[in-house]
Amino acid sequence: MRERNGQVMQSRLVVGNWKMNGALSSNAALLDRLVAGAGALPPDVGLVVCVPFPYLAQVRERLQGTSIAWGAQDASERAPGAFTGDVACGMVAEFGCRYVIVGHSERRQGHGETDALVAAKARAVLDAGMTPIVCVGETLAERDAALTETVVGRQIDEVIESMGRDVARIVVAYEPVWAIGTGRTATPEQAQAVHALLRSRLAEAGAAEVALLYGGSVKAANAAALFAMQDVDGGLVGGASLDAGEFLAIGRA
Ligand code: PGA
Repeated sequence: MRERNGQVMQSRLVVGNWKMNGALSSNAALLDRLVAGAGALPPDVGLVVCVPFPYLAQVRERLQGTSIAWGAQDASERAPGAFTGDVACGMVAEFGCRYVIVGHSERRQGHGETDALVAAKARAVLDAGMTPIVCVGETLAERDAALTETVVGRQIDEVIESMGRDVARIVVAYEPVWAIGTGRTATPEQAQAVHALLRSRLAEAGAAEVALLYGGSVKAANAAALFAMQDVDGGLVGGASLDAGEFLAIGRA
């Protein structure tokens, strides 16, 4: 347990983002290893896997009744209807998802998702009874141009503005785009600096206790140093979440 401002922080969150990876047989092996190892994690660490839509039934079956939660990597902001290829929040909720990642940089960049759309998705996820994990983060060009605060500030402000008091019910993940899948992790100090900015914006909105995850090449070898930072409450883990040993080691960190 950790304390912030005299208050005990209940939990740390380690979220695996499988991205577009997996197959029924390898998922089964990975999930079984996670279930076997999760019991040895500290009680205040919550483990979550966010999987491709077709595998939600499989993870529900394998993880139901365990300490590991699951979620989706995206969902539509719209109510069900004529939207070919989209998946509604209510649909993933039916499969027992507790979390939905929204606004991942791979969706912002590859699918043109705007700050406003990300905020609308976060709202829709909450309305469906789940917790949105809202991703923010700057590109390398933006960091080099000293625009990190501007970009991340704009991204979080849009969510704060559109969600009002409900912003206290989200999780935020800071994922510098230049650190995702590149093997280049932000230093603990770089992560902490942005997390402190996010914390202060959220605190102004009455949401100081929102869990702030760091993501971007998190692995067992660097997790402890990142998680030791005051405002880093856990991690959003891509590549390393596909390896049960690595992912569990990150949970222990
Ligand atoms: P990575 O991905 O851990 O493979 O860098 C993190 C993410 O994109 O969520």
